[in-house]
Amino acid sequence: DVAHLVDRFGRVARDLRVSITEKCSLRCTYCMPEEGLPAIPAERLLTADEIVRLVVVAVRRLGVREVRFTGGEPLMRADLERIVAGCAARVPGVPLAMTTNAVGLEHRARGLAAAGLTRVNVSLDTVERGQFAKLTRRDRLPSVLAGIRAAVAAGLSPVKINAVLMPETLGGAPDLLQWCLDEGVQLRFIEEMPLDADHEWARENMVPADRLLAVLGERFDLGEIGRDDPSAPAEKWRVNGGPSTVGIIASVSRSFCADCDRTRLTAEGTVRSCLFSDSEIDLRGPMRSGAGDEELALLWRGAMWNKWVGHGIEADGFAPPVRSMGAIGG
Ligand code: GTP
Ligand code: 5AD
Ligand code: SF4
Repeated sequence: DVAHLVDRFGRVARDLRVSITEKCSLRCTYCMPEEGLPAIPAERLLTADEIVRLVVVAVRRLGVREVRFTGGEPLMRADLERIVAGCAARVPGVPLAMTTNAVGLEHRARGLAAAGLTRVNVSLDTVERGQFAKLTRRDRLPSVLAGIRAAVAAGLSPVKINAVLMPETLGGAPDLLQWCLDEGVQLRFIEEMPLDADHEWARENMVPADRLLAVLGERFDLGEIGRDDPSAPAEKWRVNGGPSTVGIIASVSRSFCADCDRTRLTAEGTVRSCLFSDSEIDLRGPMRSGAGDEELALLWRGAMWNKWVGHGIEADGFAPPVRSMGAIGG
């Protein structure tokens, strides 16, 4: 018997995003502080078995239909394959996706596909090596490109590329799109949200969707398509008559909160109802004190019932959440 994750505004969460670590191999300026996030003490981190158990609860008791592993960087966990295989065995048929920076993915893509991972989204903002090193504070572009190719070869498709729009990389956007067209991967640009660890985000520095469209329009013929479905974050454009497309996730200038279908678990086992809400409900404590699946499901439903109406970035008095993107995982 399934009781869905509904909130007071009638939204139903069917898409679960599980952050499995806050560690990362890169230090993107819009996400992580230079020194990385403080390490989570081992005893506070969910184990592979605990993650699998919560995924089973979400799918069997709460109507979740798709699971995505995020971070930090999920590849930082050596037991990622075990987590994926555990979920694939216990909730067969449920798509298991991952959002990754692809550093080192080259060596793990085949194993992850064999474990049951269905597809990956890769964060890549520029194909210019110097720019990449500056933005991520690490010179790892070759590893990322090899990782993307390995994901395609392993059948983890459709492979989608996420590029956060920054003033420094806007000029390179057409080259990035051309690279994605050549490699047969889908590109989506993302408006930067105030989730950087350094709290330096400012509305006036954000590159809005319209500016990107103007830059891409100089090199490509773009035809507006729209969203795949109402809760899809990306709006799409057909490139040069198709079949390739480019997407824009305009979370700030055209928010899609009203159709949000997400629920999130942090690496420490708390439920987050929204990227921007710091009121988290702990499931790890109850789980370790012997709570049954039904009790965990009830706590999870309570957490989602109180979900906010929207992110409120444009509202007076907006304050960014305590957790930066690196601790939520997008
Ligand atoms: P697909 O199912 O492949 O479309 O994946 P996705 O877009 O749901 O996941 P991904 O991790 O690739 O997220 C892409 C970007 O969407 C993230 O970087 C965020 O910027 C943005 N995003 C994801 N979830 C939310 C959300 O709940 N609210 C807002 N405002 N933005 C989100
Ligand atoms: N705003 C928007 N997207 C972000 N990401 C990281 N930080 C931000 C931010 N401040 C993106 C990454 C990754 C996804 C999980 O979140 O590029 O693709
Ligand atoms: Fe790491 Fe992804 Fe954050 Fe970049 S965006 S620092 S790759 S977690």
